[in-house]
Amino acid sequence: MAEVLVPRERQPGEARVAATPETVKRLGARGLSFAVEAGAGEPAGFMDDDFLAAGARLLECGSEALQQAWTQSDAVLCVQAPAVEQLVRMKQGSLLAGLLAPYGARPLVDQLVAGSVSSLALELLPRISRAQSMDVLSSQANIAGYKAVLLASAALDRYVPMLMTAAGTIQAARALILGAGVAGLQALATARRLGAVVYVSDVRPAAKEQVESLGGRFIDPPEQEKPAEVGGYAKQASEAFLAAQRQQLADQLALADMVICTAQVPGRPAPRLISEDMLDGMRPGSVVVDLAVASGGNCACTIPGETVIRRGVQLIGADQLPASVPNHASALYARNLATLLEQLLPGDGAEGAGFVLDTEDPIVDGCLLTHGGQCRHRAVVYGEDA
Ligand code: NAI
Repeated sequence: MAEVLVPRERQPGEARVAATPETVKRLGARGLSFAVEAGAGEPAGFMDDDFLAAGARLLECGSEALQQAWTQSDAVLCVQAPAVEQLVRMKQGSLLAGLLAPYGARPLVDQLVAGSVSSLALELLPRISRAQSMDVLSSQANIAGYKAVLLASAALDRYVPMLMTAAGTIQAARALILGAGVAGLQALATARRLGAVVYVSDVRPAAKEQVESLGGRFIDPPEQEKPAEVGGYAKQASEAFLAAQRQQLADQLALADMVICTAQVPGRPAPRLISEDMLDGMRPGSVVVDLAVASGGNCACTIPGETVIRRGVQLIGADQLPASVPNHASALYARNLATLLEQLLPGDGAEGAGFVLDTEDPIVDGCLLTHGGQCRHRAVVYGEDA
């Protein structure tokens, strides 16, 4: 029976957990045995007793049993990558699965390679239909898009919906959303539910139909050569395209009450869509929430985890939004991960207790970062020329 360890997340601000009582029970029925570090689910509202009731063993923080579980488990499930001091304990051939932030992650990958630990970086899961139920980036970005609009609405100096009151009529707030991927579309849906009029910009022509079906107004991209699309993601745009886009967005920004920035190209710095000059044209009292702040930001002057007030405009550098909705974020993350792990279990009656990492399977091939003492995605970790 394969042993799986779920340690407590230790990164500052992280409140999610990689398994829930529901997924422990579900994978337990498939023959996996779980050890959960005491308190691992507490910040997300999943209590130790519930893990016990689901069949997990509980291991106290700092206990001998926990140390042993690090060295003996066949798999460790995490949200964010554990510290290298913990990784060195993992046994050869075991599996680490989580959001490992693989782009440029040399120290992590060097350690996984040295220890011959196999790892699944969930960011690299291909966006194909069969992988949809395992796609943690989507389940988490959905939450980020939703929460971004709530943050913006709470910070705004105006009502969001149109209201007819005895004191007169209030116009609906105007929202501008940059990027119509998972986070952007959820931001659009949430802003519409609150009653905003929503404009959306994206470089992918396919986004127009999705935006309009959710009641948004699509801003057609500039005529310049549009960036190509690969596997549901945009490729990097040229500087000329971005300059034309900024010019186009300046007028929209001047009219917006709230702006939600979600434009991204995976593995690249976020496209800079809002310059300081453009911010100068915004209405004091309006709000920008930059979800792309951790990868450089779509908006000038945003800082991860901070709110900056610039000439009356609030610039919210919103990182870690899924962790601010930890119960549902964990529930969805854990289900995604459980579905992925189920794909890796040997069929009924097959030999062996471990996981089957079939690199012919596009899902495994896409996200298997290290295996057999080698890094399998060198360009992701060490840059283009690797
Ligand atoms: P996604 O890849 O689904 O969507 C990004 C969209 O941006 C795509 O539709 C793409 O075509 C578009 N785009 C690319 N270049 C553009 C440009 N120049 N102008 C307009 N649109 C452009 O990504 P997803 O999953 O929606 O994530 C969006 C952002 O939110 C990412 O930066 C991601 O890292 C971030 N995120 C932040 C979280 C937080 O807590 N702050 C949590 C989850 C995601």
